[in-house]
Amino acid sequence: MRASAEAWSWELMRDLGVDPARVVEVAAGSEPATRAALLVVDAGDRRASDGALAAGVLKSVRAGLASEGHVLVVGGRTEDAPELCSLRNALWPHLHVVRAYRMKRGEPVLRIELGGSTRLPHVATSDGYAVLALERLVAMSPATTAQKFDKNAAGWNGVPGAPDYAHFRWMRKLLAVLGKPRRGESALDAGSGAGWVGIEAAKMGAVVSSFDPSPEMVKFVLANAASEGVKVEGRVGFCEKPPFDGPFDLVLNSGVISFSPDADVFLDGLCGVVKPGGRLVIGDLNPRSRGMTRRRTQKPIVPVREMNASLREDVERGLERRGFRVEWRRFYQLTSPVPELIHRSKSRVVQGGLLAANRVACAVDGALGSPLAPLFDSWILGATKAAR
Ligand SMILES: C[S@@+](CC[C@H](N)C(=O)[O-])C[C@H]1O[C@@H](n2cnc3c(N)ncnc32)[C@H](O)[C@@H]1O
Repeated sequence: MRASAEAWSWELMRDLGVDPARVVEVAAGSEPATRAALLVVDAGDRRASDGALAAGVLKSVRAGLASEGHVLVVGGRTEDAPELCSLRNALWPHLHVVRAYRMKRGEPVLRIELGGSTRLPHVATSDGYAVLALERLVAMSPATTAQKFDKNAAGWNGVPGAPDYAHFRWMRKLLAVLGKPRRGESALDAGSGAGWVGIEAAKMGAVVSSFDPSPEMVKFVLANAASEGVKVEGRVGFCEKPPFDGPFDLVLNSGVISFSPDADVFLDGLCGVVKPGGRLVIGDLNPRSRGMTRRRTQKPIVPVREMNASLREDVERGLERRGFRVEWRRFYQLTSPVPELIHRSKSRVVQGGLLAANRVACAVDGALGSPLAPLFDSWILGATKAAR
């Protein structure tokens, strides 16, 4: 088998901690006799973008991948990024691609990951490519999510002065403001991250509870609330089964639904903690944005949430099925550098002007609807639950 002949593939097995006895190699479309921890599927000389190849890979995977196992699709051509993207897109939503390799005979093997590309010390002995994938439900499992955010909780919390920080605070405030929390109302920040949306709502007088799957994030919520002089309760949990019964006057949910393996189960959980007559503000990545559209065709490796992001109208329909009326809809967060400028500007005049410009952009979107969608990173909507 071509991949296993290459020195780099042994490194890969070491990275994955796979017992070589549990590696099974098959031609795409064949059904292996045993379930493999690493299933190597040979694409032959077919283009990575060949739809029949993806169908064959999925057939082999269904028959022969052990639970939590990895799949390595290997082909005998040197493919460029758009070809690898086609294969990645065709394997979704069953599989999520987490790594790729590009081989050109006589040149160092290129490893492509989320963080960028690395030239390996191994010189390729033949042309080829390989993509490493795992099942979407494994990539998005509750345990994976909690671990991922525990590990990078400090990064998500943001450091004042660091490049992303201003941007994050600005949009979190926008979310809370659009929720219009009233003094004394109960509010829930569901999937709180480091807590900034809920903290903004607490500053406006709401009595805020919050939760997040990552215990490390919850620690940040409590510390951030204390340092901002407000009280926010923090628990560990998932939107699919919130750790509060509620119900709440206002539920805020910012940038979370794309992490959920099942948007319906997610919305069931979230909607269940909104009071009859209460409000839900939900926002997330906009899969129609220019940036995401470009990355889906140019970057072989993208975060799983980008692949999984929901369209605003699909979430709207999901809410309507659950007895909500969508009151308003927006896209928000004009792409860089406007949000950063808004936050960084010390001048009230400039800040007010930029905020106003952004609000006008949001309002125009409200009037014109989705033709403006590609200009924005994220969507947001507000809905009211039917009073009983
Ligand atoms: C992009 S961050 C957004 C955090 C915060 N809402 C904000 O806007 O600052 C996503 C957060 O959602 C949490 N999360 C992921 N899946 C979740 C789920 N199914 N239910 C609740 N929270 C989840 C993660 O742990 C992470 O803290």
